[in-house]
Amino acid sequence: MSTWIFGYGSLVWRPDFPFAQRRPAAIDGWTRRFWQASPDHRGIPGAPGRVVTLVPDPQARTVGVAYQVAPEHVTEVLARLDHREQAGYAHHRVPMVLDREVVEGLVYVATPENPNFIGPAPLDEMARHIVRSVGPSGTNIEYVLRLAEAIRSLDADDPDLFALEAAILKLTADS
Ligand code: BEZ
Repeated sequence: MSTWIFGYGSLVWRPDFPFAQRRPAAIDGWTRRFWQASPDHRGIPGAPGRVVTLVPDPQARTVGVAYQVAPEHVTEVLARLDHREQAGYAHHRVPMVLDREVVEGLVYVATPENPNFIGPAPLDEMARHIVRSVGPSGTNIEYVLRLAEAIRSLDADDPDLFALEAAILKLTADS
C-alpha cells in the first residue's frame, strides 16, 4: 500500500525521497512553530538552529504538501526520514485534506519531552538566533526564507512564519 507523508518544513521545498505524487495539503488541529532546536541540520551541537515542529491547537490549520510514496519505497523513505529527523521527532497518523479529498498519512512532530524542544521566544530573539545559525544542511536563514516562499506559493497564510521572515530580512538588511 502507498503511504502519504505530510511536509510542513523543509519537506515542502526539498523532499529528498522518491514520491509518486505531490499535492498541496493541510492538516487540522496543529499549528507550525519554530520551537525545535536543530543541532544536526541548521545548526551544530552547542549552537543549534531553530526549525519547525507542529503544536496542537484545535482552531488551527497548517498548510503544507502531501507526498504519496509508492509501496516499494515506503520502508526506505521512512527509514531515511527517521534517520534525518532523529533529533526528537516522532511520527503520527493524521487525516490530510487534499483539495476535496481526505487521506490518512504520517506527519513528523517533535515531542515536547525531547531534549531539543526549546519552545517559544520573542520574535526578535528568534530572528537573531536564526540569523547566526548554520549547520551541515545550510544556513538557518535559508531554511526560513525558502519555507516562507514555498508556503506563499501555495497561496496559504501563515502570519507567524511571515512575521519571522520579515524580522530576518530586516536584520539582514540592517547588517
Ligand atoms: C518537514 O515537513 O519538513 C518535516 C518537519 C519535521 C520533521 C520531518 C519533516
